[in-house]
Amino acid sequence: MKILVTGGLGYIGSHTVVELQNEGLEVVIIDNLSNSSIDVLDGIEGITEKRPIFEEFDLRNKTKVQDFFARHSDVGGVIHFAASKAVGESVEKPLLYYENNLGVLVYLLQELEKKKGASFIFSSSCTVYGQADELPITEDAPVKPAESPYGNTKQVGEEIIRDTCKVTPDLKAIALRYFNPIGAHPSIKIGELPLGVPQNLVPFITQTGIGIREQLSVFGDDYPTEDGTCIRDYIHVVDLAKAHVKALQRLLQNENNSNYEVFNLGTGKGSSVLEVIHSFERVSGKKLNYKIVGRREGDVIQAYADTQKANKVLGWKSKYTLDESLKSAWDWEQKVRTSHAAKS
Ligand code: NAD
Ligand code: WQD
Repeated sequence: MKILVTGGLGYIGSHTVVELQNEGLEVVIIDNLSNSSIDVLDGIEGITEKRPIFEEFDLRNKTKVQDFFARHSDVGGVIHFAASKAVGESVEKPLLYYENNLGVLVYLLQELEKKKGASFIFSSSCTVYGQADELPITEDAPVKPAESPYGNTKQVGEEIIRDTCKVTPDLKAIALRYFNPIGAHPSIKIGELPLGVPQNLVPFITQTGIGIREQLSVFGDDYPTEDGTCIRDYIHVVDLAKAHVKALQRLLQNENNSNYEVFNLGTGKGSSVLEVIHSFERVSGKKLNYKIVGRREGDVIQAYADTQKANKVLGWKSKYTLDESLKSAWDWEQKVRTSHAAKS
């Protein structure tokens, strides 16, 4: 049996492919390289000594999706990472986001409902909780009206899966709500490769540290938190990847309690923006050039996960500390820039 990983050359997908292959699972990747590089295949092979099967096409092409499933009738599970993920861009181009994040999801589910007992894992996000009323955030916390079309695609995506599972008892699905993934594989053969100016905190910090960006803007220090900056739950991408293997095994072994389940994936610990900066300074030995600016629209004050459900039910717990995560992000940044300089 094969596991299809859509978006398997992207940031979280590539780390998950490594963990799946480490567990002896056979992986086939579909990616259109819209936000990734073909070189990631070498990275995966370099770590696992196995090159996954790779097909390059755009999942928005329904005929190609149908043709893929006809050719790979032995696909028993799908981990669906492929999506567009830039919150700001989603406000500018909502239809691109609805087509890519929801249209493709529908095509995949249409293929899976034809199969017997298929397993499906969906990349959801803590963004569905908005500013939660209680912290840490449990899976039962209410889903709040989305702040952006991107956030809405994760909420509606979950609903599409839930409704499909209701009428397809054979289909088994898990939605994983990621908090803030950071860091790179310890081998530094794969990591995050943001295109253009990074929107997320950690790649912006490492790019500032290496001199590509002049200065990090800290968005607000007047929030009602201890140091006034926002709090998030930063989870190492390898920890996150390992949780996908646990979730998949739960479905493949029919250990699930219902055919649609939701899990938070985070460390359970909140860190402020200034704490992340100080962690970076500790592990890199560099002073970071930053300044406090105004708040960024749409930012929630605090979000960190209650991880008990994933701990107990999936038997999974994050292992990496914030310093270790920042260290791997910094090692990766240095490697990327060195190899880039060597090529140019
Ligand atoms: P990424 O952009 O690095 O990876 C997505 C991959 O999907 C890319 O390789 C891209 O080329 C591919 N892709 C996109 N659209 C495609 C299409 N139509 N056909 C084929 N391939 C396509 O993103 P990531 O950070 O690895 O995120 C993976 C998933 O996790 C996404 O669904 C994202 O919304 C979700 N997520 C990410 C974060 C985060 O902070 N990174 C947080 C929560 C949820
Ligand atoms: C973290 C903190 C910023 C950049 C985003 C998406 C969300 C989810 C995770 C996918 C915040 C501050 C940031 C900078 C800063 N992704 N910051 N200066 O906002 O938690 O969520 O990624 O589902 O949907 O919105 O992550 O990394 O952008 O920001 O001060 O240049 O860092 O204000 O407090 P966020 P982030």
